[in-house]
Amino acid sequence: MASSDHGSTTAPKDVPGSYGLPLVGAVRDRLDFYYFQGQDKYFESRVERYGSTVVRMNVPPGPFMARDPRVVAVLDAKSFPVLFDMDKVEKKDLFTGTYMPSTSLTGGYRVCSYLDPSEPTHTKVKQLLFSLLLSRKDDVIPTFRSNFSSLLATVEAELAKGGKAEFNKLNDVTSFDFIGEAYFGVRPSATELGKGGPSKAAKWLIWQLHPLVTLGLPMVLEEPLLHTFHLPPFLVKGDYRALYKYFSTVAKQALDTAEGLGLSREEACHNLLFATTFNSYGGLKVLFPGLLANVASGGEKLHERLVAEIRGAVADAGGKVTLAAVERMELAKSVVWESLRLDPPVKFQYGHAKKDLLVESHDAVFQVRKGEMLFGYQPCATKDPRVFGDTAGDFVPDRFLGEEGSKLLQYVYWSNGRETDNPSVDNKQCPGKNFVVLVGRLLLVELFLRYDTFTAEVGKELLGTSVIFTGVTKATSGPGS
Ligand code: HEM
Repeated sequence: MASSDHGSTTAPKDVPGSYGLPLVGAVRDRLDFYYFQGQDKYFESRVERYGSTVVRMNVPPGPFMARDPRVVAVLDAKSFPVLFDMDKVEKKDLFTGTYMPSTSLTGGYRVCSYLDPSEPTHTKVKQLLFSLLLSRKDDVIPTFRSNFSSLLATVEAELAKGGKAEFNKLNDVTSFDFIGEAYFGVRPSATELGKGGPSKAAKWLIWQLHPLVTLGLPMVLEEPLLHTFHLPPFLVKGDYRALYKYFSTVAKQALDTAEGLGLSREEACHNLLFATTFNSYGGLKVLFPGLLANVASGGEKLHERLVAEIRGAVADAGGKVTLAAVERMELAKSVVWESLRLDPPVKFQYGHAKKDLLVESHDAVFQVRKGEMLFGYQPCATKDPRVFGDTAGDFVPDRFLGEEGSKLLQYVYWSNGRETDNPSVDNKQCPGKNFVVLVGRLLLVELFLRYDTFTAEVGKELLGTSVIFTGVTKATSGPGS
């Protein structure tokens, strides 16, 4: 283990840092975070100021949504995994951090993401999700292919018309349909929900995440509107009701399984909605543009290698995209891991110290008291130069190839656990871990069966990266489908 509460020979230190004056300090820090410094600089500057990667600071949103914005931040690869240790941290009601959205946004229930593994409902819901994903495993590849090949056909039509195609917009619509169809066999857009699903989902997500985002509006508007008070849940009630109806109609089999596990159909349905719409859809909204942006930056040389690997493996599988063929695509897998390392889609993790404990960074051992909030900003840990060297901040497609490369996988933390560990009912690691790494590779498969290369413009947007296709070169050699 990278952190320990025993056995260290160095005398533990007090964690350095400062919270500033009550209230004023937290508001000032919030402004630094959103407007004056920005996210990365906010953390990097405090590490520099106090000469330590374990450091006290406030995190947003602060007043009046969070009762206590003070945290002990763990900002290197060695200290961060304390957040994965269920003997040391409690993960109750802190999925979104130092504030919690109203449970009226989730049918009155505390859904799985907010439950600690010590709570019996956590085991039941996580088990339900494992069995849902297992029961649908053969449907993932064909469903992905049909949804995303039609996305790429639209990209081509838009490029022919205007020379540009906005990937994020198309991805929002396609990922929502893909996830619904992959999990429940019915595309949301083919039901009463119609084409309104993604925008209803996005609105509901904003109601939960607005304290943590900036829309790029002037500070005087955003501060009172987004960062000081909760948006009233009744304004999103109708959207939630429409989403719930889709799930209660299409998820009958999963709800039967849930009853068998001792969950009520209603609690299970709110949980399925959350896992599908927040965890899965919210994740893919950020994951796919980030991955595409990195692959675009790799240029033609990387594209050529991906083309050779992907088309070779598919040809060997008789021209079919099978799970076994995808497993043989080692460069594609390394590219997906590298993108998850460089741009983890969920950047903040939290946990309350269950007891007095010691947290170890590369340089020192620190005393943390029972009840204190530990916080990790993941990019600082997964871009740690002491693990990933001089290229820690660069996209290196080959990073995880071979025996040496695979040794670095233990430092990939996107799933709230090491990439070498597995999610279980006893931990808080993402149950979608394998699914996510699979669909990341499937996006590359779809792209490079169809194209020899592509170009894109990359920018920033609300939750991550924006990608606009500017050109695609159609495949010149087989198997091409
Ligand atoms: C938990 C990331 C996709 C379901 C988590 C956590 C992270 C994460 C960081 C831990 C949060 C915390 O407790 O601090 C992601 C990313 C995804 C993704 C980046 C996609 C790119 C999925 C998918 C599912 C899923 C496809 C579908 C089942 C969940 C659930 C939890 C969770 C239910 C709570 C786990 C628990 O309570 O033990 N995810 N996830 N996620 N994720 Fe994912």
